[in-house]
Amino acid sequence: MTPDSTHNNPRKLIIAIDGPAGAGKSTIASRLARKLDYVNLESGAMYRALALQAIENDTSFEDEAALVKLAEGSRIQLEPTLGGNRTLLDGKDVSARIRERDVTEAASRVSVHPKVREWMVEHQRALGANAGIVMEGRDIGTKVFPEADLKVFLDADPVVREQRRRAQQKIEGEVAANVAAELRERDHRDRTRAASPLVAASDAVVIDSSSMSEDDVLAKIEKLVQQKRQQRPT
Ligand code: DC
Repeated sequence: MTPDSTHNNPRKLIIAIDGPAGAGKSTIASRLARKLDYVNLESGAMYRALALQAIENDTSFEDEAALVKLAEGSRIQLEPTLGGNRTLLDGKDVSARIRERDVTEAASRVSVHPKVREWMVEHQRALGANAGIVMEGRDIGTKVFPEADLKVFLDADPVVREQRRRAQQKIEGEVAANVAAELRERDHRDRTRAASPLVAASDAVVIDSSSMSEDDVLAKIEKLVQQKRQQRPT
């Protein structure tokens, strides 16, 4: 019996978690999914995989048509595992490679193009076709699943987000300063791009995690999940 079926057989939900980098989305989404026995899907990993494909094929990050063609000719797979998503590109495990700095920067650039986003959204919808998912990204509540049962916009002060990144990546000094500057630049690009900029959906619950522990954020979202499960589907 799954944890989900023990409690009055509550219906399975689609949960969208959006927000900027460093707000804690990945950790929270994966912990929440584990608790609920849901599937956790990191939509950013798909943009990262396409960015890696562009790097390896010498495709310009500015060439929208070429990027869409590249996406159409690629096999980008997300495999949820207990430790997070495994990302496969044309059958090869690229989970670690896509976290490197050059891919991080490239992902932010390829994701500005409307037609690239259309391709991604279509595939992300297909991945999440069965409820019982926690999908995280930038436009999940606004574009991918506007009808999601629960939308959380997880935010945090930019200084706090930079500190978290620094601790996470165990970096300091000049490298840390560069990483912080890149984070700010990507943030700006995500928030100001014309196609699906990073914004909270009008019906999202905004959580500012700046002075909250991971456990507190998780407890707050779990409470929201409980409330949603008790409501009738609309
Ligand atoms: O969440 P992440 O850092 O892995 O995302 C990598 C890039 O992909 C990020 O710069 C923004 C973009 N992205 C997006 O535009 N829409 C999403 N749903 C997820 C990520």
